[in-house]
Amino acid sequence: MGFRKDFVWGGVTASYQIEGAAYEDGKGLSVWDMFCKQPGRIADGANGEVACDHYHLYQQDVDIMRAIGYQAYRFSVAWPRILPEGTGPVCGKGLDFYDRLVDSLLAAHIEPWMTLFHWDYPYALFRRGGWMNPDSPQWFADFAGIVAQKLGDRVKRFLTLNEPQCFIGICYDATEHAPGIRFPIWDTLLMAHHALLGHGLAVQALRAAAPDAQVGIAPTCSAHYPATETPQDIEAARKAFFDVSEEAPFWSVSLWSDPIFKGAYPKKLYELFPEHMPPVGPDDMRIIGQPLDILGQNIYNGKAVRADGRGGYAFVDRGKGHPFTGAKWPVTPRALYWGPRFLAEEYRMPIVITENGLSCPDVVSCDGKVHDPNRIDFLRRYLREYRRAAEDGVDVRGYFHWCVTDNFEWAKGYTERFGMVYCDFETQERILKDSAHWYRDTILANGDNL
Ligand code: FCB
Repeated sequence: MGFRKDFVWGGVTASYQIEGAAYEDGKGLSVWDMFCKQPGRIADGANGEVACDHYHLYQQDVDIMRAIGYQAYRFSVAWPRILPEGTGPVCGKGLDFYDRLVDSLLAAHIEPWMTLFHWDYPYALFRRGGWMNPDSPQWFADFAGIVAQKLGDRVKRFLTLNEPQCFIGICYDATEHAPGIRFPIWDTLLMAHHALLGHGLAVQALRAAAPDAQVGIAPTCSAHYPATETPQDIEAARKAFFDVSEEAPFWSVSLWSDPIFKGAYPKKLYELFPEHMPPVGPDDMRIIGQPLDILGQNIYNGKAVRADGRGGYAFVDRGKGHPFTGAKWPVTPRALYWGPRFLAEEYRMPIVITENGLSCPDVVSCDGKVHDPNRIDFLRRYLREYRRAAEDGVDVRGYFHWCVTDNFEWAKGYTERFGMVYCDFETQERILKDSAHWYRDTILANGDNL
């Protein structure tokens, strides 16, 4: 029992959070470059101009990943590094960087999993209306095609968008992330529709350029789970999991995944925003619903749910002293059982956890090592639940730990350490944390040691 034999173990990063080299080799500006220049947006006034300097130190990072025993590495491509203006002329040097990275990964027997868009949107396109522009889906698809033409002979796994919940919801609704401008609900819904169209057109472009590659997407969710595993609570949790709330519609699973896997927006959206839903063209759902090979899903936590006795659901308060991570995110291991299970049952797709992890206040101890027992404990608890899902027949294919090295955590700057590898941001020294050694054993045992 346990995880399937070909289960994939890996780690994940995102371009702006680790690469640095923000103004090198012809790279264009991204909305994150410009957001970080605004006083008060990022903790300690930090930015990603150097970050982990991965652009220069990538070989060292690949060596570290090999030492940990990664089978796969999920990373993203900085769109403005390849197309400085977002569309038009390609920057050869930018594309060459990913070419070298992919070759180095393959030489280390690490399978590259490439995310096309993990939030560093070209600033030049933002100035043309960004996701609001009706041409924006095609801009993204053209970019995806260019990348796949160059790298699709070696990269066989592509993920189109990372967490549209965040790059639309947190950016244009909650405004904590770049470009951090509030738009009304009708414009934000239109942007969401364009992002979904961009996803569908990108899938077509990827398949045309790399016909033998597998393609998926990596949304996020709050993975609600039943308070008790009774049929009533399970159905209540399922309802909560796929529901759309008026306060945070963009955070929902179904707004994004229903169009892709079921060919329509959830009814609840039309009930909540009858006048504000974007016009859906006759071909739109066919484009958005391109068949995918995998459903990547980022899961960090969820809330316990119980049946309310009236056919609805209620969230259960977390008890006094409930455990939280460094970033004050709740520790809820059962999210990694119920999340994959609900998703697989609803959308009938193979599931890969494309992000999961936590931040801890990690420090270098007197012995020169970084001891992170909380990370090991967190991962063990979550992975046990994930393995239980596998054993109960949920089709789960892989697990990517966020993150390889500590890095630039968006609006929180360098104040949160999510890595399995400690990064000294002054010297760029990397130190494997205890959890990295533990993860190595876990990969070797395919999770049987959990
Ligand atoms: C996810 C993001 C990733 C990182 C982790 C902690 O939402 O995809 O870039 O910030 O959270």
